Amino acid sequence: MRSSTILLSALAAPLAVHAQDSTLSSSKRGLVYVQTNDASSDDSIWDSSTSDLTWYYNYKAEPTSTYTNHLQFVPMLWGAPSDNTSMDFYNTVKGLVDGGMNISYILTFNEPDGCTSGGSCVDAQTAAETWIREIEPLKKLGIKLGAPAVTGAPNGFNWLQNFFTQCAGQCSADFIPVHWYGNFEGLASHMGQVNGTYPNMTMWVTEFADSDVSLADSQAFYNQSTEYMDRLDYVTHYSYFGAFRSDVSNVGPNAAMLTQKGQLTDIGAWYLGQKATGNIPKGDAAQMTRFAGSIILVVAAGFYLIL
Ligand SMILES: *[C@@H]1O[C@H](CO)[C@@H](O)[C@H](O)[C@H]1NC(C)=O
Ligand SMILES: *[C@@H]1O[C@H](CO)[C@@H](O)[C@H](O)[C@H]1NC(C)=O
Ligand SMILES: *[C@@H]1O[C@H](CO)[C@@H](O)[C@H](O)[C@H]1NC(C)=O
Ligand SMILES: *[C@@H]1O[C@H](CO)[C@@H](O)[C@H](O)[C@H]1NC(C)=O
Ligand SMILES: *[C@@H]1O[C@H](CO)[C@@H](O)[C@H](O)[C@H]1NC(C)=O
Repeated sequence: MRSSTILLSALAAPLAVHAQDSTLSSSKRGLVYVQTNDASSDDSIWDSSTSDLTWYYNYKAEPTSTYTNHLQFVPMLWGAPSDNTSMDFYNTVKGLVDGGMNISYILTFNEPDGCTSGGSCVDAQTAAETWIREIEPLKKLGIKLGAPAVTGAPNGFNWLQNFFTQCAGQCSADFIPVHWYGNFEGLASHMGQVNGTYPNMTMWVTEFADSDVSLADSQAFYNQSTEYMDRLDYVTHYSYFGAFRSDVSNVGPNAAMLTQKGQLTDIGAWYLGQKATGNIPKGDAAQMTRFAGSIILVVAAGFYLIL
């Protein structure tokens, strides 16, 4: 077994990219809201009048209780209700509208083709029945409907095709969400394939990051992908993953928009239309992380032990 140690300070210094120049803001940007252990301090960073974020979703039908109305709320039906007569989602959204909230869009079925790590694991037939019952009627309230938000795996395409077949023309989705974890070339190719398959819908990229890569690669991915999505007319909304601290990140510390102390990283600051902070995200010192085929054991603040 090969073994070596690398000083973290030596590793981190060349990766720190300090930008003094332009900050690019975009009205397409929104927030994937994730509840964190430090919600009271973390939440206020995103829900602020100085951020350029315009909308958010939280995987739920109802808004995050601590949020004010700086960002427009987008309700989501996460999975299919077990009661096949339920109108709960419809009624909740109707209630928000009746209460005066501006609901323009809804999202549906988070990763229904995935049965692990956050997927809602819904079969296409159940999803189609649920859609026809309580999603389609929301259109009459003037709300635009998001197609099921499948994973970026090839099976996502099969699932969507089955879904639209089961719908038999009764599911009139207005836009199509995309999820992607991987490099920019993969994202661009996937988006092209989705646009080619569903040219009648605009696109929202509602989860994306290049997970578990170096800080330099994470930042390069962030720059390339946001510039690309800002340029494409058919992409109307996007939300980068994710708005949480680097030490609890499930996509690797370098993709996170907050450091382990809750400060904005460069990516976090750029996402809000602000200048780079130079804050370097660190992982959890006790966590085992799989990286480039090796197991990196972060043994203490100070160095990595690569086994
Ligand atoms: C990312 O963009 C910022 C400007 O927004 C720039 O300063 C920085 O050098 C870029 N980093 C990479 C890796 O492209
Ligand atoms: C709902 O589920 C029940 C029990 O599984 C079933 O008998 C019924 O046919 C279903 N109704 C619809 C509309 O799918
Ligand atoms: C509601 O939000 C949409 C876009 O999200 C916006 O175009 C519209 O002006 C808003 N309506 C009101 C009444 O604020
Ligand atoms: C877009 O295309 C899909 C599949 O071809 C179809 O089921 C859906 O109803 C279409 N949406 C609109 C808004 O026309
Ligand atoms: C998206 O699809 C439409 C319809 O097929 C096509 O005209 C357009 O060029 C595509 N956009 C891109 C950037 O590929």
